[in-house]
Amino acid sequence: MVVEGRVNEGRILAGMALATLAGFMKRIVILISGRGSNMEAIVQRCRREGWPAAVAAVIANRPGAGGLAFAAAQGIATAVVDHKAHASREAFDAALAETIDGFAPDLVVLAGFMRILGTDFVRRYEGRMLNIHPSLLPAFPGLHTHQRALDAGCKAVGATVHFVTPELDHGPIVMQSVVPVRPGDDEAALAASVLATEHVIYPLSVRWFVEGKLAVDGGLVRQTDGASQVLL
Ligand code: GRF
Repeated sequence: MVVEGRVNEGRILAGMALATLAGFMKRIVILISGRGSNMEAIVQRCRREGWPAAVAAVIANRPGAGGLAFAAAQGIATAVVDHKAHASREAFDAALAETIDGFAPDLVVLAGFMRILGTDFVRRYEGRMLNIHPSLLPAFPGLHTHQRALDAGCKAVGATVHFVTPELDHGPIVMQSVVPVRPGDDEAALAASVLATEHVIYPLSVRWFVEGKLAVDGGLVRQTDGASQVLL
């Protein structure tokens, strides 16, 4: 009897744990186009730090995206929605949304995802889609950020994590990193220095989101614990 009682108790506890997990764990879908080093950093920190979240899938718009192999090796579902296989931007956006929604995400993370997304797509995930951009936004939206910063004589560069809005590289800023420009720095040197900070601020921002610690008010983002939103 005692043994049976313990077994039942164990079953009940296991059931409760599963139910708690099911309601509690946030589902993250990450979109990549290339090597996926930010995606890797998020996957690793999520697991190592035991976030209340799991990366449900990694989706690429290029079949050869290097990050897909890492994700698959981690046992994470992967998918490719090839933009070249779609006749229009709208058709690509629709196929991408259908694939994303198949994984029922609470959060969509753009991590080096190099396609411009249409307004309808962005609105669908508004408030639950983050991007990282390698500049101190609102300076230098778009491409070649580091060279443009050098050409402008900037003394500091950095990266920005922000909620995605229809305007490219715009939207409420979650966190920024700041990197000084040193004499002799070229585009590659700046890119490497900034990327190292991206691997810190992006996982941290995603963690705050899944822990419910980001409040957006009037286009401004506040970390509700009062944690610093800048990495210097
Ligand atoms: C990063 O610099 C990111 O800021 C930019 O594209 C690059 C992607 O790198 N949007 P990775 O694929 O995460 O390694």
